Amino acid sequence: MQTQALQEIAAAPDGEALQAVKTRYVGKSGLVTKELGTLGKLPPEERKARGAEINAVRAALETALNEREAVLKQAALDAKLASEAIDVTLPGLPLPAGGLHPINRVYDDLTAIYERMGYAVIEGPEVEDEHHNFEALNVPWYHPARDLQDTFWLDDGRLLRTHTSPMQIRYMVAHEPALKVVVRGKVYRYEATDATHEAMFHQLEGLVVGDGISMTDLKGTIAEMARGLYGPTAKVRFQPSYYPFVEPGADFAVWWDNPRGESKWLELGGCGMIHPNVFKAVDDLREAEGRERVYEGKTGFAFGLGPERIAMLKYGIPDIRYFYANDPKVIGQFRGELG
Ligand code: PHE
Repeated sequence: MQTQALQEIAAAPDGEALQAVKTRYVGKSGLVTKELGTLGKLPPEERKARGAEINAVRAALETALNEREAVLKQAALDAKLASEAIDVTLPGLPLPAGGLHPINRVYDDLTAIYERMGYAVIEGPEVEDEHHNFEALNVPWYHPARDLQDTFWLDDGRLLRTHTSPMQIRYMVAHEPALKVVVRGKVYRYEATDATHEAMFHQLEGLVVGDGISMTDLKGTIAEMARGLYGPTAKVRFQPSYYPFVEPGADFAVWWDNPRGESKWLELGGCGMIHPNVFKAVDDLREAEGRERVYEGKTGFAFGLGPERIAMLKYGIPDIRYFYANDPKVIGQFRGELG
């Protein structure tokens, strides 16, 4: 029986099988246990030797059982560790990396150029009031220019700013001249969308105010921006245009040696010399806040341009709607690149 049991112990493939062997031989009603129960039927002089013999078998089996159990436990542990092991030589799973949106890249290029020229860079509220978006910018309610910029109105009478120009007003009310600032941010227009028009887009607004600021300063600034964007051979062109908050007003375009052989004038934005009515509106607001009137008699210029136009050309994006459709096939091309 001992030989048989030791073979079965050695052959038990796992803990469960080993437990079954243990029960069969040394359990409460196991074969060895039963054998002990027969001692009473033996003549007293044989009992001691027989008892010792059975107990020796029992001890041998228990030792074997314990040893086998330890071996099986270790084997199970090894198998578990092996299944959890990481092969560090395997290629890793790619982690999705972010990247800068093309509009932010263009903004960063532009603001770097203006920071080099000593401009502050600011943002401002996208929800505006009529006074800052129109009235203070010399656009009274009856002015046809209000129709040029179709407006998203809110229930409370406020609006989504149609341009970044209201920040001219806010900045001048809060700061005294001389000042140089660019504003970056989203603007909204209620109009049909197509390849070059979106209901939401971006602007970069520039504002310079001081003494004796002239149209020459404006033109030099735009030319400096063009060279910063497109290199030393870039040129700028000004054409007369009308914006109520500047006088004279102009539209400006940039020309440069496009490496793709697509050199042409790129219409970038509007600009002009700050209209005296704007300075007056700023001083009125300052006065209402108990501040000094400091803008009348000053001179300055402002400009506004759309980074989308620059980005479309720079990155070969044919439709403005691609920027905001969140299609990973488009935006994903800019992953991982931070410049
Ligand atoms: N705010 C004008 C627009 O959105 C652009 C502009 C800004 C024109 C500053 C002149 C001066 O169309």
